[in-house]
Amino acid sequence: MPGIILVGTQWGDEGKGKATDLIGTKIDYVARFNGGNNAGHTVVVGNESYALHLLPSGILSPNVIPVIGNGVVIDPEVLFEEVDALEARGVDCSRLLVSDAAHIIAPYHRTLDKVTERFLGKSKIGTTGRGIGPTYADKINRVGIRVHDLFNEKHLRDKVEASLHQKNEILVKIYNRRPVLVDEVTEELLKLGQRLQPYVANTSLVLENALQEGKTVLFEGGQATMLDVDHGTYPFVTSSNPTAGGACTGTGVGPTRINRVIGVAKAYVTRVGAGPFPTELFDEQGEWLRKQGHEFGVTTGRPRRCGWFDAVVARYATRINGLSDIVLTKLDVLTGLKEIPICVAYDVELADGSHKRFDEMPTDQALFNNAKPIYETMPGWTEDISQIHNFEDLPENTQAYVKRLESLSRCRISAIGTGPQRDHIISIHSLID
Ligand code: GDP
Ligand code: IMO
Ligand code: MG
Repeated sequence: MPGIILVGTQWGDEGKGKATDLIGTKIDYVARFNGGNNAGHTVVVGNESYALHLLPSGILSPNVIPVIGNGVVIDPEVLFEEVDALEARGVDCSRLLVSDAAHIIAPYHRTLDKVTERFLGKSKIGTTGRGIGPTYADKINRVGIRVHDLFNEKHLRDKVEASLHQKNEILVKIYNRRPVLVDEVTEELLKLGQRLQPYVANTSLVLENALQEGKTVLFEGGQATMLDVDHGTYPFVTSSNPTAGGACTGTGVGPTRINRVIGVAKAYVTRVGAGPFPTELFDEQGEWLRKQGHEFGVTTGRPRRCGWFDAVVARYATRINGLSDIVLTKLDVLTGLKEIPICVAYDVELADGSHKRFDEMPTDQALFNNAKPIYETMPGWTEDISQIHNFEDLPENTQAYVKRLESLSRCRISAIGTGPQRDHIISIHSLID
C-alpha cells in the first residue's frame, strides 16, 4: 500500500506539476494536501499545455482519481472555471473527489488579501492575491467555512455571519470599504455548494481504504519547503504547510502509510514575491536564466527572480521533508553556460560585525537575510541534452554537475528533467517501487 509524497524543495515552481503528471500515469490516486489556487502548474502533454491551479495534476491522467484534501483551501468559482476549461478541451473531470472538510475561499477573503497587502506597503509579502492567507487565518481562528457547511442554509448563514462580524468592522473602519452583506455571500455560496456536492466525499476514508487495498496514492504539495509557514522564510511564506508533514494533516492519512518522499528541485533556483533569496542574480546572468527557463509565473504572470542552485536550501529540504529521492528539473536550461556556480554554504555577517560560515540553514531570519552565498564552480556544457534518456549518455560535465548536487543535497537524484514535455526525462531510480 504505497503512499508517496511529492513536495517542492525551493520557493515553488520547481516543475512539481510535470513530476506529478509523470508519476501520476502509473498510480491510482493523486491527492493535493495544501494551498489553493495560489499554485500554478504547467503540464505539457504532447502538443497541449495545461495550466492547473487548484486541481491536482493527476487530473490529466485518465486512470487516476484526483483528490482535493482537507488541507486545501478551495475557491469554488475558480474550481469550476478550471473544470469547465479542462472539460472543454476533452479532459474528463468527473472522477474528482473533494474533501468535505476543506475550507472555502469566499469573495471577502480575496478582498482582505488585497487590502492587507496594500496596507503593508513596502513590507508586503507579494501574495498571489487569491485570498489564501485570510482563509487559513479564519481556519486557525475557528471562523472558517468548510465544504460541508455549504449544504445547510441555516448553518451556513450562521457561519458567514460569525465570520463577517469582525471582518466588516475591519473592512469599514480600517480599510474604508463597504461592508460585506451576509445574505449576498450566503446565497452565492449555497449556489456554488449545489454544484460542488457531487464531487464531495470523506476523502480521508477514501484514501485509507485505497491504501488498504494496495492502491498507490501520490500526495501532491503546492508551493514548496521555503514557503512553508513553519519552516520557510517567515513571514515571506504562504499560509500552509507544503512540507511532507502537511501531507498527513492535509489529507487525514497517517504517517505510517507513507513509504517515500520525493522532492522536486530545479537545477537553479527561482522565487516569486518578496523575501530573502541568497543566490539571487541581479545581473545579465539572472536575465539569461529567466529567458532560457521561461521564468514567468503561471498564476500571476510575474517575472520570477532567478539565481544559482543553493545546496544549503537543498540539504535543508532533505532534512525537513525526510526526502528519499530528488527529481532534478530544468537541467536543460543550464546548457550553454561556461561555468556553473553552486552555493555550498553561507557567509553571514553577525550583529557585532564578525562573519560566520553556515553550512546548514540558520533558523533566525535576521541571519538568513544577511546570508551571502559561498560558491563553488563547476564547468558547464554546450551539448543539447533534451533527447538523452540515460544518465551515462549525458556529457561528462553534466554528469559531474548532477553528482555534485546529489552529494551536497544528501539525497539521491532519481530522475532528471531535460525539457518541458512528459518524455523529457532521464530516469535513474524508479520512483514508485
Ligand atoms: P510547479 O509549480 O512546481 O508545478 O512548476 P511550474 O509549472 O510553475 O513551473 C515549471 C515550468 O517548467 C513549467 O512551465 C514546466 O512546463 C517547465 N518544466 C518542468 N520540467 C522541465 C524541464 O525539465 N525542463 C524545462 N525546460 N522545463 C521544464
Ligand atoms: P506553486 O505550487 C511560487 C508565493 C507568493 C508569495 C507567497 C505568499 O506553483 O509552486 P500566497 O498567495 O500564498 O499567500 O503568497 O508565496 N507563492 C508561490 N510562489 N509558486 C507557488 O506555487 C506559490 N504559491 C504562493 O508569490 O511570495
Ligand atoms: Mg508553479
